[in-house]
Amino acid sequence: MKDFAGKVAFITGGASGAGLGYAQIFSEAGMKVVIADFSQEHLDQAMAYFKETGAPVHAIKLDVTDREATAAAADETERVFGVPDLLILNAGVNTFGPAEATSYGDFDWVTGVNYGGVVNGLVTFVPRMIRAGGERHIAGTVSFGVFGPGPITAPYAAAKSAMLSLLESYWVSLKPYGIGVSAICPANIRSKIYEAALKGRPEKYGETGFNVTEATTKQLSAFHQNGMDPRVLGEWLKKGIEEGVFLIVPYEHGTRMVELAMERFKYYTTAEGIRAWEAKQAAPKTEEELMLDAEHEGYSIEAARERDRHRGEQANDDVGFGKARADLDWVEADKKVK
Ligand code: NAI
Repeated sequence: MKDFAGKVAFITGGASGAGLGYAQIFSEAGMKVVIADFSQEHLDQAMAYFKETGAPVHAIKLDVTDREATAAAADETERVFGVPDLLILNAGVNTFGPAEATSYGDFDWVTGVNYGGVVNGLVTFVPRMIRAGGERHIAGTVSFGVFGPGPITAPYAAAKSAMLSLLESYWVSLKPYGIGVSAICPANIRSKIYEAALKGRPEKYGETGFNVTEATTKQLSAFHQNGMDPRVLGEWLKKGIEEGVFLIVPYEHGTRMVELAMERFKYYTTAEGIRAWEAKQAAPKTEEELMLDAEHEGYSIEAARERDRHRGEQANDDVGFGKARADLDWVEADKKVK
């Protein structure tokens, strides 16, 4: 898809962070944009911005885990602007803690939004897009995290891996209809995702197994301040769609980052390989690895070197970020093999 002017975009989670960046870039490219988001506060802030620009942008309050509401949002979009030419499945949440502390609620919430929401978007919109005909595109915000293990983001890593697989299947399946598919995989974005676990988690998901506090949220917020500007991410997505790229890794050295990250599977297949992989992990990072870390996390090469020198220590920070809830007595705080 190369021409955007006059066409319709529907963006889940479109009122903040990455989704708002996409909304801005595609609106500036002349599209009529629907931002569908769970948070009324985010929708109000985003619409105040678009009111200033005068661009055609329509807000819908939507929980992507709700199938009936997703169908109603699709109907509303058709009434207001028409069938989406560009569907961006972007809504996502995250929360951090050891895999063994994950509660059912953590799984249900994180996989429900990040994966279930994508399923609902595809099942609702794909038949409508095929029936409407013509050149169309579907994009999803996956994560660079999908290329590595997620010891403190197990439900998120699982949901994003499933999402990537799903998008790849749809990419192959929808090609004959003239519908393109892209999966964009950023590492660190300047967004509000840090507050999701504290403010954006519905009560029905019950207790988390993780240590989620004001202090851990503040620490995560500081990390995201270094992240990529969502507008820059939007430019990467637009370029990727124009060029028909499936896997958009939004960094100059994106291809090399994927190559290095996926190497681990080759090592995992033999006992000898695992020993070699563990030795590689224990050794200081190479200059190339440090350069790539700095590029995707958004900090300087000096900061990357410093973090690598203090690698072990960072796991024991004093606010307990990424730790289990204190009362989970089966989770070892210090996980050295006994
Ligand atoms: P954000 O929190 O700034 O924006 C996400 C938006 O999704 C929020 O406005 C939120 O209200 C909305 N949302 C949450 N639950 C929803 C639901 N059930 N239904 C509809 N909307 C819902 O966060 P960010 O970072 O912009 O997240 C966008 C996507 O980018 C997510 O899929 C996230 O996993 C992904 N991502 C984020 C990274 C980061 O460093 N922030 C890195 C890689 C991927």
